[in-house]
Amino acid sequence: MSKRTVVKMPGDGIGKTVIEEAIRVLDAIGFEAEYIHSDIGWEFWVTEGNPLPQRTLDLLEKHKLGLFGAITSKPKDQAAKELSPELQGKGHVYYSPIVGLRQHFNLDVCMRPCKTFKGNPLNFIRRTQGDGFEEPEVDVVVFRQNTEGLYGGVEWTNPPPEVRKALETHPKMANFKSTPSEDLAISTRIYTRGACQRILEEGFKYAKRFGYKSVTICEKPNVIRETSGMMREEGRKIHKNYPDIALWETNIDAQMMWMTKNPEDYGVVVSGNMFGDIVSDGFAGLVGGLGFACSANIGKDCAIFEPTHGSAPKYQALDPSIVNPIAMILSSAMMLDHIGEEDKAKRIRDAISAVVSEGKVRAYDMLKLKGGPDVLKQGAATTGQITDAIIAKL
Ligand code: NAI
Ligand code: MG
Repeated sequence: MSKRTVVKMPGDGIGKTVIEEAIRVLDAIGFEAEYIHSDIGWEFWVTEGNPLPQRTLDLLEKHKLGLFGAITSKPKDQAAKELSPELQGKGHVYYSPIVGLRQHFNLDVCMRPCKTFKGNPLNFIRRTQGDGFEEPEVDVVVFRQNTEGLYGGVEWTNPPPEVRKALETHPKMANFKSTPSEDLAISTRIYTRGACQRILEEGFKYAKRFGYKSVTICEKPNVIRETSGMMREEGRKIHKNYPDIALWETNIDAQMMWMTKNPEDYGVVVSGNMFGDIVSDGFAGLVGGLGFACSANIGKDCAIFEPTHGSAPKYQALDPSIVNPIAMILSSAMMLDHIGEEDKAKRIRDAISAVVSEGKVRAYDMLKLKGGPDVLKQGAATTGQITDAIIAKL
C-alpha cells in the first residue's frame, strides 16, 4: 500500500505532547505514513501576527489530511499585548486557527463519538431504586455543524450604523432602541439550508451504516424559530429517506437535563455549531471527559482530526507529562476510519479498551487526582506509559 502523507499540526502546550503519542501508536499498528510538520498556534501569532500561516494552509491544500493537537488562545486584549512589538498597531486581529481551518477548508461536518469504555472509573453511574447503582452504556455520535451559526464570526461590538439600520427593519429591534451602539454587542447565528442538509444527511447516513436506531435533532426551534427551525424542517425531509431510523427532536436545554437520565437511549445526535459543541461536551462528560473526547472535522475534500481538549497550559511544562493521550489516539483512529483503514482503527480502539478495563495503567484523570507532578507518586501513569500500554495490546 502506498504511503500516506499526513500534515502534523502539534500546536501549543500538550498538543505537542499528545500528537507524538498518537503517531507512536499509528507507527506501531503498521500505518505507513509520512508526517509533515506544520506551524500553527500562539507562537506564530506572537512572531508573525498570524496563528495560521499560509504555509500551513498550502500543505493542507496539497495533502488534504491533517492531525491537530491543540492551540492556546487568549482574550482579545491579551492577544494584542503579546504580539511582538514590531507587529503591534498594524491591524493584526487574533482569530482561532482551528476555527479558521474549519472555515477555510469548509470542514463543515464535525463528528464527536462519545462511547463508554467498560471499566473506566470516570464512567457515569446512576442510582437505581434502593441503594443500587447502574452504569448505562453510552454510544452516541454527535454530528455538529462546524462552520456556521454562532461560530460564524459575523459579529460586532458597537455595530456600524448601516448594520444597526438593517437590523432595525426587524420589529423586535425596537426593544434595543434606547441602547447606544457602543453598548451593543451582536453575534449573529446564520444557518444555510445547504449546510443543514449536509450535516443531517451525514448523520442519517452514519446511523444507517452503523445500525443506530435513532437520529436526534438537538436544537431549540420553539424559541430560535428561524435557524433551529430550518434545521428541523430539513431534518424532517431527509428523514423520509430513512424510514427505519427514528427521528427524535429535542431542545438543547432539556437535552442537557435528560442526558443523565437516559443517555443510553440516544444514537446519532445532530446539532448546529454552538449546541453541537455543548451537547458533545455533555455526552463526553459521561464517558470520561476531555481525556477521552475525540473528534473529526470533515469537508468534501479535506479532513482534520483532533482531540476536543485544549492546550492545558497548566501541564505543558511537566516532565514527564501526565496528561491522558487517549483522546488524541482515538482521534487518530478516526483518521484511519476516514481513509478506509477501519481494521487498524478498530485494533487501536480494542487496545485502548483492553488497557482501560484492565485498569493497571491509568492517567491522573482516571484516578480522579488533582493534576500535578505528585500524581506519579500516587499511582498515576505518565503519558508515555499509557501509550506504551496501548501499544503492548495492539
Ligand atoms: P483545556 O482543555 O486545555 O484544559 C482544561 C482542563 O482539562 C485541564 O486543566 C486539565 O485538567 C484537563 N485536560 C485537558 N486535556 C486533558 C488530557 N488530555 N488529559 C487529562 N486532562 C486533560 O481547556 P482550557 O484550560 O479551558 O483552555 C486552555 C487553552 O486551550 C486556552 O488557551 C483555550 O483557548 C485553548 N483551547 C483550545 C482548544 C483546541 O485547540 N481545540 C479547545 C479548548 C481550549
Ligand atoms: Mg468545546
